[in-house]
Amino acid sequence: MAFHIATLILLGLDAALGAVLPPPWANPKLNPCATQPGGWQLLYWPPDGKCYKIFKTGYPCSNDMELSPSPTKSGEQKFSAECRCPPMKAQSARDGKCYDLYSRGPCEKGFYFAPDTNYTDDNSKRLWGVCTQSRPCPGPNEIFWPRDGRCYHKLTKGPCPKGQLLTTDPDLIPQCRCNKHRELRDYRYSDNQCYQHFTRGPCREKGHLFLPDRTCGCHSFLPHFHDDTRLCYEIGTIGPCNSGENYQLHPETRRGTCQCKAGYVRYANTSSCFRPFTQGPCAVGEFLINSTTCIAQPCPRGHLYFLPQDKCYRIGTRGPCRKGRIVTFDFDTRPSLDGISYNGVCSCEKDVYDNNCDEEEITECSKSDGMVWYRKRCYKLYAQGPCPKVRVGMRGLVNVFLDIPGR
Ligand SMILES: *[C@@H]1O[C@H](CO)[C@@H](O)[C@H](O)[C@H]1NC(C)=O
Ligand SMILES: *[C@@H]1O[C@H](CO)[C@@H](O)[C@H](O)[C@H]1NC(C)=O
Ligand SMILES: *[C@@H]1O[C@H](CO)[C@@H](O)[C@H](O)[C@H]1NC(C)=O
Repeated sequence: MAFHIATLILLGLDAALGAVLPPPWANPKLNPCATQPGGWQLLYWPPDGKCYKIFKTGYPCSNDMELSPSPTKSGEQKFSAECRCPPMKAQSARDGKCYDLYSRGPCEKGFYFAPDTNYTDDNSKRLWGVCTQSRPCPGPNEIFWPRDGRCYHKLTKGPCPKGQLLTTDPDLIPQCRCNKHRELRDYRYSDNQCYQHFTRGPCREKGHLFLPDRTCGCHSFLPHFHDDTRLCYEIGTIGPCNSGENYQLHPETRRGTCQCKAGYVRYANTSSCFRPFTQGPCAVGEFLINSTTCIAQPCPRGHLYFLPQDKCYRIGTRGPCRKGRIVTFDFDTRPSLDGISYNGVCSCEKDVYDNNCDEEEITECSKSDGMVWYRKRCYKLYAQGPCPKVRVGMRGLVNVFLDIPGR
């Protein structure tokens, strides 16, 4: 119920962009029930002309649905109600019932129940679900996570909340779980949460990791052991390292060492690594081009630097790029962490995030109206496209692909 109240307030907020306004169904002109005591919580149900409490489960809806305000039809002045599945559920067109999204729901083995993004109706916010086939993952021990369309290693935290690991149920539906049974037993700590081995997990003491014997500790024989500090650190984290570095296994010794993160260079013999083409250790008005050299920033406003040409080109022009490509920012550099980057890269004209644009396919794609090339594929605008299926926590809200997202 707390959730619904929040929804009511949010809807009111939306309407006024900041000021709290009563929701539209509080208006007696739109909702005949609004004149009754507590009428802002009542919805008019046209089939019997009676008023029912908003978000009521069951009658006049079926037992698994709740009475919800439906969008006012354009040109029509009455406010109406419809029966919808509760949040995080969707209705199956097969039997009209509500099932949990991303569960097996009414589907056959190998399928899961996902929002139907093909079906839209301006007069209803009802969310329909369809059975969708799980996609295979490249790795043998990986699990496809339909909510974000990515694959994660089994028994890692992956997309799960803290204290749970990724596994599958007997129907092969991916789940975040922690229990005492079978495969998860070895990952369960005394706080009844599950953690990946050799991560910080539940360990409080500095330099301790969660070990396969389900204790927190650190041993000098572990690859995670850092000789200088005599502590253990998780591989791939910053560990005892400096900015621009992370703690990685040395390719030969197979022990943890501080190395530059991928795409960073160590400047002279300092203890920090920097992203090339940012100011890094250089003087104001300069940027770093390699591990030894700073150069004066040569580019006028709106231009980016290309090292091979030693020249600046205007953003959005073809510059030194191949046909079908344009000069864009190096989106791998994060200004908040690395500083401003002057590095220019060539990206596909139709999709600046794609490095392997195939010109013919793009032409085909842009020939059809309302289609756009995005991450190696052609998508229809205003359909779900490559977007995550549902914004978790928002009732029935399906993400829709609007355009190439800005940065
Ligand atoms: C959506 O429609 C397309 C084309 O009509 C079809 O190929 C696809 O399977 C549909 N997707 C779903 C989830 O129903
Ligand atoms: C880095 O250190 C090595 C060995 O200590 C030295 O030969 C080299 O000149 C130093 N490089 C710079 C750029 O200071
Ligand atoms: C860095 O760039 C400068 C200038 O182009 C060049 O002289 C130098 O050899 C480069 N150093 C390295 C380590 O690549």
